[in-house]
Amino acid sequence: MGHLSLSPSILTADFARLGEEVRSVAGFVDWFHLDVMDGHYVPNLTFGPSTVAAVAGSCDVPLHVHLMIEDPMKYARVFVEAGARRISFHPEVVPDAGEVIDHIRALGAGAGMAVHPDVEVEVVVPHLDVLDLVLMMTVRPGFGGQAFLHEVVPKIRRARQLLTNSNRAADIEVDGGVNLSTVDEAVGAGANMVVAGSAVFDGVDPAAAAERMRERLDLLERGGRV
Ligand code: DX5
Ligand code: ZN
Repeated sequence: MGHLSLSPSILTADFARLGEEVRSVAGFVDWFHLDVMDGHYVPNLTFGPSTVAAVAGSCDVPLHVHLMIEDPMKYARVFVEAGARRISFHPEVVPDAGEVIDHIRALGAGAGMAVHPDVEVEVVVPHLDVLDLVLMMTVRPGFGGQAFLHEVVPKIRRARQLLTNSNRAADIEVDGGVNLSTVDEAVGAGANMVVAGSAVFDGVDPAAAAERMRERLDLLERGGRV
């Protein structure tokens, strides 16, 4: 198995000390996952490009912005300018997913399609040649700290099959409810990047939590069972 990437979501971090929070775990992570919500696509609001720029200025870890918003075409640019290296969006709310992917890539960022638990994974098929990442949602988008939806696991397996059959080495990132009890199942199904929000930032010691998750991923990389 290749490298398994850890990408903590900052959603449940302490925003009053965000710089310290991200720096405390930076040594254990490959990416940070930044959840942008607009109060329309999801019934919650989070943050905008100024927060993304603040994280970009606080550490050297690459940033993936997960847009849970209705108009990714309108806002992709400001997030790339704020420092996002990758942008993911939800295809079910845009008229032309291919146009959004082309736009994100023309801005110089990697493009990802997020697959809502109610959306079939086949939605990515027409775009496999240009996608950098498929973001498999294992919770309903909107909030951190929800339980991992085990019924999505066959869809992760299907996403891996679809990518293996294509010529594209895109990543499969699993997002929602990933912790030490669920990560083995997600990776076993074919995810090579894992988001972990509350599992890293909800406890008293985010660095220790990130290190434990990193150790688990190292073990899984070596084919270990726990
Ligand atoms: C949910 C977000 C997730 C979430 C992950 O809408 O897209 O990225 O913050 O947080 P946990 O790991 O707590 O489910
Ligand atoms: Zn997310």
